Order: sequence, then structure tokens, then C-alpha cells
Amino acid sequence: MQKSVTRYFFPHEFIEANWRLWSFIIIIALGSWALITYPVAPFHGYIDPFYSPTVLIVPIPGLFRLTCYAYRKDYHRHLFHHPLACENAQREDAPSRKYTGEKNAIFQFENLHRYLLYTGILLLPFFYYDFYKSLTYADSLRIGSLIILANALALTAWTLSCHAFRHLIGGNIDCYSCATLGGPRNIVWRVQSWWNSHHEALAWISLLTIFFTDLYLRGLSAGLPLDGTLFKF
Ligand code: FES
Repeated sequence: MQKSVTRYFFPHEFIEANWRLWSFIIIIALGSWALITYPVAPFHGYIDPFYSPTVLIVPIPGLFRLTCYAYRKDYHRHLFHHPLACENAQREDAPSRKYTGEKNAIFQFENLHRYLLYTGILLLPFFYYDFYKSLTYADSLRIGSLIILANALALTAWTLSCHAFRHLIGGNIDCYSCATLGGPRNIVWRVQSWWNSHHEALAWISLLTIFFTDLYLRGLSAGLPLDGTLFKF
């Protein structure tokens, strides 16, 4: 009998279905990264995402990511088992532990996310500056420049698809779809809403691109022949 094959179109679908395996991969990846981590100095015009000016304030983008709703959903449901789902007041394995809404300190802290969004937006130009620096180093487009650009685009897509950003551009009105219907704000909100529907996938993709870029640049600085010039200006 032919075995059916499950196809996952987005990373979060795979994560939901293979949560234990994914947790193991993340722990190994973060643990390995913590062991080898040291600042990778700019190398041939390439600036590592962990070395660029953002590294000075890394706790802030770190908190921005930690309080992202995409990750909150995963660690509350799968790690804390509390709450197990939206409006789930009861923990199956600990009935006495009720979910009381977003009143406790952890939830209140997580709600600072809407302010951390501003810092996330402010940091985005630095990643494009890193791309620009990589182009001007040898007046050429190299493979490493494309990887840095891909990382910048992934971070932009993740940041601008944020739920808090959706509220920022479309909120504070009683009716999203009617009060500004057809106006520029409504159009931007509709586009962002579509984008926002992919936020969870973008959260994981952008996390992977940061680590991939970091590893790629570490490989280059270690002497691996991973780079090449695509064309000269
Ligand atoms: Fe994920 Fe804001 S909800 S970045």
C-alpha cells in the first residue's frame, strides 16, 4: 500500500507537526552558536549581522523577537502548556492553574512588544547599509552581498508584517474596512493584512537567515572558498 506523504508549505506547519524535533534542532543550533560565538570582524567588506552596530543593543532586538506573537504562540502552547490555545482557561494537566487573560507579569511584559516594534524598524536601515558596504568594498556584486541582502529583506518582511505594525497603520478607528475604505490608509492596511497572514512563517525564515548569514561569513573568514564575484560595476 502506498504511504501518504505530508507536505509542509510553511515552516510553522512543519514546526506544529514536529514540535519535539524542532525544539531539539533549535537547542542544538543555539547551543552550538553560543559555544562558537565571538565577534566576526568585517571581512572583505562583509559585516556580520551580529557584528554590525546592532550588536551593541542586541538585547533590544532580542526582546523584540522573544515577544513576537509567532514565538509566543509556540512557547506558550508547546513549552509552558499555558495557555494551550486562545481562550483556553484550563490546563489539562494542571486544572488548578487557570488562564486569567493577559493580566500576569509575563503577559504584561510581552505586551511591550508594540514599543519594541519601533526599535525593530529603526534597526532595519543598518542591514541595508551592510549590504551597501559589501558592494562598495570591491565595486562588485558578490555572492556574500546577495546573502546579506536576502537577510535584510527577510528581516524587513518579518518586521513589517508584525501584528503591532498592522494595528499602527490600521488601528485606532472603529471599523478597519469601512471608515477609510478606498483611501490610502485602507489600501496599505489591506496589503499589510495579507502580508501579516504569513507572519509566522516569516518569523522563522528571518531567524534562519540571520544564523545562515552569520555562519556563511564565519565560513568565509575561516578561509572556506564560498564567495565569488557575479559582476563588476
Ligand atoms: Fe511578530 Fe510583532 S508579532 S514581530
